[in-house]
Amino acid sequence: MTVLAVQEPSLVVLCGPAGCGKSTFAARWFRETEVLCADTVRGWLCDNPAEQGINESVFEVLHRIAELRLANGRLTVIDATNLEASARLPLRQLARRARLPSHLIVISADLETIRERNQRRDRRVDDGVLRGHLHMVEHLDAALEKERWGRIDRIDAQQLESAEVVRTTLPPVRFEEEGPFDVVGDVHGCLSELDTLVRELGYDEDGEHPEGRRLVFVGDLVDRGPDSVGVLRRVLPWVEQGRALFVPGNHDDKLARWLHGRAVKVTGGLATTVGEWQQLSAPEERLLRRRFLAVMKEAPHYLWLDGGRLLVSHAGLEERDHGRTGDAVSAFCLFGKTTGKVIDGYPERLDWAADYEGAAYVAHGHVPVRLPQWRNRVADIDLGVVFGGDLCAMRWPEKTFVTVPAEKAWWGGGRWGAAEPADTMTPSDEATAG
Ligand code: GTP
Ligand code: MG
Repeated sequence: MTVLAVQEPSLVVLCGPAGCGKSTFAARWFRETEVLCADTVRGWLCDNPAEQGINESVFEVLHRIAELRLANGRLTVIDATNLEASARLPLRQLARRARLPSHLIVISADLETIRERNQRRDRRVDDGVLRGHLHMVEHLDAALEKERWGRIDRIDAQQLESAEVVRTTLPPVRFEEEGPFDVVGDVHGCLSELDTLVRELGYDEDGEHPEGRRLVFVGDLVDRGPDSVGVLRRVLPWVEQGRALFVPGNHDDKLARWLHGRAVKVTGGLATTVGEWQQLSAPEERLLRRRFLAVMKEAPHYLWLDGGRLLVSHAGLEERDHGRTGDAVSAFCLFGKTTGKVIDGYPERLDWAADYEGAAYVAHGHVPVRLPQWRNRVADIDLGVVFGGDLCAMRWPEKTFVTVPAEKAWWGGGRWGAAEPADTMTPSDEATAG
């Protein structure tokens, strides 16, 4: 049996020749209101569901409804052949603009099958059209290589009957995780302070708490501090075993890109981690790399927890993106709201929390501040431990703060209230930071 995992909400685009069974499949697995069918819109517009002469209006209507549904965060299924790249492009763009996943389901079939199915129904398509569609199916794989879909599933028309659609929420949406939590700010390789904080919060060496509390790391485990490798060795097992939760920070993201062999500048804080990394023996290095990259791959860019009451993201998240995903959302989570301008060597940041009116409380790090406080339900819990400040945890649902002081200022040159000197951001960081 084929299981198709469909994320809710997302844009699901069916793609396959006439008669392959798209509408039948859509009716079996989705609500009537979730499915936007080109033939239905044709009927609305001219009473003839087969009329091809009005396609421009048909897709204008279909795209507009899809856009508005996605804006409302509703799962939307497009039931049309979608065999031409020009039909698929605007659909991908709709998903990207809505900051929701795009999911293509390709249904392949042989001529015999679609001919036979075509014969069995009221509305029949010409044999020439069927052949044309199959010709397009043959060239589909090459075309899809150039297209960026969130996910592509392929299924044969003969397997449609036994296929099962399973709905999942988007990875950041974890309302069922109810806590209580201790959300830990940017650690930046300060292992000793981390151990002290975790002990003060009542956790044992395995990261377990007698009252079932759980640690949530807000990202930037590594760089600048004395023992980034030690921090990874401490935290990764807890995350792997589900005892702690983790969202990546921009420093963790950059380390992952370096480990993937991407062209990142090894400057500033990353150089400290790379220096430690190069001291590892080959087997140690392989193991830590594998574990760190696996945790990074699994980690959503933010976590929306406890029935939607708490959101954790490295650099925060504006309300309109709660429950959304994609590159723009990831960039916000890693870097915050930046304008692309550089002032005094630092990227200009916009104070999105100043007019935040969201229902969820947001705990984030990224920008070192002197004191933790709630402002419009947003708390910055990066107290700059690596610059000689404090390591901070926010207790949830208590909404209180616990801090331990830095043992020393491990890294000079930090600027309170500023996230990153602009010259430590790589060109690709800057490209996504806007
Ligand atoms: P167009 O709207 O023309 O692009 O076709 P479609 O892909 O929506 O196909 P549709 O769902 O209308 O199915 C065409 C015919 O095949 C109908 O008579 C269906 O009853 C039949 N059919 C659809 N799915 C299946 C299936 O899984 N197995 C079998 N045996 N028949 C199917
Ligand atoms: Mg149909």
